[in-house]
Amino acid sequence: MKTPKRLQPLVDEGLIDEVIRPLMSGKEADVYIVRCGNDIRCAKIYKEAQKRSFKKAVEYREGRKSRNSRRARAMEKGSSYGRQEQEQAWQNAEVDALFRLAYAGVRVPKPYGCFDGVLLMELITDEAGYVAPRLNDVTLTAEMAIAHHAMVMKDVQRMLCAGIIHGDLSEFNVLLDDKGPVIIDLPQAVDAAANNNAKRMLLRDVNNMTQYYGQFAPSLRASKYAQEMWLKFESGKLSPDAELTGQFVETEQSADIDAILAEIQAAFEEEQDRKARIQSATEDEY
Ligand SMILES: Nc1ncnc2c1ncn2[C@@H]1O[C@H](COP(=O)(O)OP(=O)(O)OP(=O)(O)O)[C@@H](O)[C@H]1O
Ligand SMILES: [Mg+2]
Repeated sequence: MKTPKRLQPLVDEGLIDEVIRPLMSGKEADVYIVRCGNDIRCAKIYKEAQKRSFKKAVEYREGRKSRNSRRARAMEKGSSYGRQEQEQAWQNAEVDALFRLAYAGVRVPKPYGCFDGVLLMELITDEAGYVAPRLNDVTLTAEMAIAHHAMVMKDVQRMLCAGIIHGDLSEFNVLLDDKGPVIIDLPQAVDAAANNNAKRMLLRDVNNMTQYYGQFAPSLRASKYAQEMWLKFESGKLSPDAELTGQFVETEQSADIDAILAEIQAAFEEEQDRKARIQSATEDEY
């Protein structure tokens, strides 16, 4: 096919030999299948900031450090240099997270780098070699759901040990290859130790996955991996091979009504968001 303008610099540099076809157009990016030498890979072109519908940027950005103080000040002030830097930081966040997670043994696409706002990574395929489906497009047996849920919980645990929370984990951001679930779409990954929303995001991520697998294996719904992981993480006792039970006993302190009401409101807003995403994901598909 004709090379899209944003991929031309990568073709000129010899990073991509051929653009095969568009794969998906998401809210934050357009994804293409490309050939690099003998490998078939995936190129994710980030949309420009103003075209992204990214409501929660502030929530995610918190705690994300810039190693350069001039850069950090410019980003805070929102000058045009600052906006450009913020854009770069956003684009690099995903490739950074992918490298760190691949190293930590999490099942993510192998990254090859981010160039001019384009992330080159492994194309995840199923056993027949076709592009792997997203979880929301498949049905599972109860046995598979239980096994895959355990794999995802282990990967979330490995991520947390690497200091990262996905922040947008759901059946739309997990693919299924011949060995099991593969986690994708990490530009909004948050720093587990520095972000005040970290615990809430971990709970939401784990809850989304548990609800998804719980459709096929209802017994999973009672599990409480996020609370158990967070407690261990906070007390410095979480290691990648710590055995988790999925059970967690709430402490019997008197309830903080305001905090509970705020949680209920946040959960309601998240559900509205989720519905909107389901709606637009169906609309966006090619
Ligand atoms: N490495 C990959 N291998 C196979 N398919 C992929 C890969 N990365 C992305 N995709 C496909 O492209 C879609 C969009 O990718 P991704 O979720 O990273 O982008 P996005 O624009 O942030 O998505 P959205 O906003 O719709 O969640 C995915 O749902 C998936 O179907
Ligand atoms: Mg996505």
